[in-house]
Amino acid sequence: MPSQIRPGTSTGPAFALLIAVGLFLAAIWYAGQAAHAEAVQVQMPKLSTMGQAGQRSFGKNCAQCHGAQADGTDKGPPLIHRIYEPSHHGDDAFLRAATAGTRQHHWPYGDMPPQPQVRRMEIQAIIQFVREVQRANGIN
Ligand code: HEC
Repeated sequence: MPSQIRPGTSTGPAFALLIAVGLFLAAIWYAGQAAHAEAVQVQMPKLSTMGQAGQRSFGKNCAQCHGAQADGTDKGPPLIHRIYEPSHHGDDAFLRAATAGTRQHHWPYGDMPPQPQVRRMEIQAIIQFVREVQRANGIN
């Protein structure tokens, strides 16, 4: 009887290995996607007075890494991103990032160094700026 699958041969382990390799490749693909989402397209709204003050301060202190429109650069992630919507990263996450910096955890850009030159009032304005731009881009 010419049979491809001989009796007693189990295809189970090979099959499990195939699935494991598939999952591994899917994970690598997924990580690659996140790593390449460097800059995003941002619509700039008409900013409030406080939002404009925040934009200036952001330009001086944060834009070199996060982009002039908080749209990301090769040194830091876009803040106009679902990850940073208010329910995931509330205002105190911004305060903490500016005063204490943050360890690399979501992105492949390295740690964010503290920005002690930025005063608390300025951080409030920066948060206002980022939230206004987030809202204009459907991130609430
Ligand atoms: C030298 C580059 C650099 C500068 C300057 C910088 N950041 Fe960042 N920032 C980063 C990087 C890189 C991350 C991403 C860390 C991660 O999640 O992997 C980050 C993350 C953040 C986060 C998320 C923190 C968290 O809890 O996950 C916030 C909020 C933030 N930055 C705000 C700011 C603000 C506001 C300024 C200006 C006052 C600023 N950053 C200046 C590089 C920078």
